[in-house]
Amino acid sequence: MAGGITQAEYWNGEVGARWARNQAVLDAVFAPLTEALFDRAALRGGEAVLDIGCGSGATSLEAARRVGPEGAVTGADISAPLLAVARSRAEAESGAAPIRFVEADVERADLGAYGQALSRFGVMFFPDSARAFVNIRRMLPPGGRLTFLCWRALPENLWVTVPREAVLPLLPEIPPPPQPDTPGPFRFAAADPLVALLRGAGFGTVACDAVDRDVVLGRGATDAEAAQAAAHVALNLGPTAHLVREAEPDLRSRAEAAVTAALTPHAQGGTVRLRAACWLVQAG
Ligand SMILES: C[S@@+](CC[C@H](N)C(=O)[O-])C[C@H]1O[C@@H](n2cnc3c(N)ncnc32)[C@H](O)[C@@H]1O
Repeated sequence: MAGGITQAEYWNGEVGARWARNQAVLDAVFAPLTEALFDRAALRGGEAVLDIGCGSGATSLEAARRVGPEGAVTGADISAPLLAVARSRAEAESGAAPIRFVEADVERADLGAYGQALSRFGVMFFPDSARAFVNIRRMLPPGGRLTFLCWRALPENLWVTVPREAVLPLLPEIPPPPQPDTPGPFRFAAADPLVALLRGAGFGTVACDAVDRDVVLGRGATDAEAAQAAAHVALNLGPTAHLVREAEPDLRSRAEAAVTAALTPHAQGGTVRLRAACWLVQAG
């Protein structure tokens, strides 16, 4: 559940539509992290790849390019609006592996057999993670690997904390911390329980490495424009956007001013760059 609604309702409602509209921005913000994911996955020509929680499809498209025409890619997600964007992008691609995008709950669905499963921030939202990782493990024959990115703890992710801390004083009440082991972006912030979860799901080897990258949250002709652009991103996507959405409607313009002010000191040469901190996990 996310704020009293199911994950399917959450990703098919306003949040899914917002992510779909902002696909290009989002892919640009995540680009350095995506590169780290694919370096680790080391996909080989001809492989079959499952992209878990593929969203608007950037990583499915990249996987299809990397495994080439002899390979095959399945992008699976529960969000119809994000899958619609993914499908429209796949039609424009040629010379890559065929991609099928399927609306499916990866916690339960049997989607076939894959040499590689990967995910960019798509594995933290299963109501029952243990069941989901067992299901994913089942779709990987011996030798198959799962590679994914998930967020480390909130305080290490300045791209979230800087805008978030600007918004908190404006809220009528401090939001409660997330319940342990419930769907959400920071659910796997602690490495040890995550490694135990994956081992419990039947993965024999699990490596969990810290990856830090500076992500570009906004650009502009001036630092002031860059800070504004970055505030727009922070208030449309991710945890700060979630806080503002949950609060009263008139908060938005005040939040925009506060977040822009907080991001301004981080603008340099027309770019706002802030640290993102992830776990890059590989299990086989
Ligand atoms: C943070 S977004 C990441 C999307 C995409 N991987 C990206 O990097 O742009 C999380 C995605 O996981 C999807 N998702 C959540 N629960 C899911 C489930 N049970 N099965 C498949 N996808 C799921 C959501 O719909 C959403 O697209």
